[in-house]
Amino acid sequence: MDHIFTMGVLGLGEGRSVISAVLNSKMWELGNICDLNEELCKERCQEFGIDKYTTSYEEMLKDPKIDVIGIYTPDQLHARHIKMALLAGKHVICTKPLMINLDEAKELIRVQKETNKAVFVGQSSRYFEPALRQRRDYEAGKHGEVETIETHYISDSRWFLERAWSHQQGFSWMYNFMIHAVDLAVWYLPEIEEVYGLGVVSENTRSYGLDVPDTLKFILKNKDGRFASVTGAYAAPTLGSAVEQSISCTIRGSKGISRAGYPKLKYYTNFEPVQKTAKLQEFADKHGYYFRFENESHHAGEYQNYMEHFASDMNRGITPKPDLQEGIHTLAVMAAMEQAMKTGNVVKVSDIMECIR
Ligand SMILES: NC(=O)c1ccc[n+]([C@@H]2O[C@H](COP(=O)([O-])OP(=O)(O)OC[C@H]3O[C@@H](n4cnc5c(N)ncnc54)[C@H](O)[C@@H]3O)[C@@H](O)[C@H]2O)c1
Repeated sequence: MDHIFTMGVLGLGEGRSVISAVLNSKMWELGNICDLNEELCKERCQEFGIDKYTTSYEEMLKDPKIDVIGIYTPDQLHARHIKMALLAGKHVICTKPLMINLDEAKELIRVQKETNKAVFVGQSSRYFEPALRQRRDYEAGKHGEVETIETHYISDSRWFLERAWSHQQGFSWMYNFMIHAVDLAVWYLPEIEEVYGLGVVSENTRSYGLDVPDTLKFILKNKDGRFASVTGAYAAPTLGSAVEQSISCTIRGSKGISRAGYPKLKYYTNFEPVQKTAKLQEFADKHGYYFRFENESHHAGEYQNYMEHFASDMNRGITPKPDLQEGIHTLAVMAAMEQAMKTGNVVKVSDIMECIR
């Protein structure tokens, strides 16, 4: 019989989707929920009919019934919270970005090896319905030989700069937002060798007293010469998701093309026999599964998909991916992108990886 995993949820903002996913999945049980903000704990208890919570992460870690910790705290705290979970003998599902830089990478690899617990990165945009369909078509070879991947994450997210932790050291549009687009590119081209790109800090980001690039464009070159283009824009008006989806992944291949996007449930394909216009698949029946709260503010269905993927792989003795190694490699690609942006040079990912060996 399959093991039912018991989740302790840390951080109850985005953690709201995790609670919903656990309560709606046959593969999961809820162990406890935790946030420093007691009012938020009480709000979540009332919303989901939960009868316990804690404001102490240490206390939640002591619970022997909990076997997985879901980490949904601010980006800057992930490395510390992952390490604490591993040392307490728990598996980890950590939201993106796994970490805000590679400073703790070596130490986390060491602790993960020593404790032999799984670390899975919750790259939610791989788990949206169109993205799942696109991956299936890719694995079935419908694109033929894939030449390029084009991804973007474009959203007017100035609202994010109202948050206290966006002004704390370590916040960047690149690591917090653009990682979705980078992860999709690296998912399809996993041997990125060199990167080049540009980024500018707009006056909108500056007006919040921040100096982090918000408008970005990169080329990532794979070992075999194929490449991805990755675009991000976060602090200026957008065309809106009806015209340009916030997150988009286009696969161009010799036999066909596909485009999957978020947040609209739309998947465009043009496979053999090729037509003049791409076929559009929409998944109206799944809208309620993906978006469970007001204003499509969270996307719990993606979380349920990745948590069930985690549970299913664990029960089959397979390491659920993206794991710690894959997550760190993606961060190394991003560190190379950052360096390319600062120096104007082409940067080798292997030079970055060298620092953590
Ligand atoms: N698509 C996605 O996968 C997605 C979407 C949004 C946010 N996120 C990620 O989720 C994480 C949380 O984002 P958010 O929007 O919920 O932020 P948030 O600020 O709304 O929530 C973070 C919560 O963590 C709590 N917290 C901080 N330190 C804590 C501690 N030591 N112990 C217990 N609780 C603590 C805070 O009180 C707060 O309620 C971020 O890393 C963000 O990048 C992922």
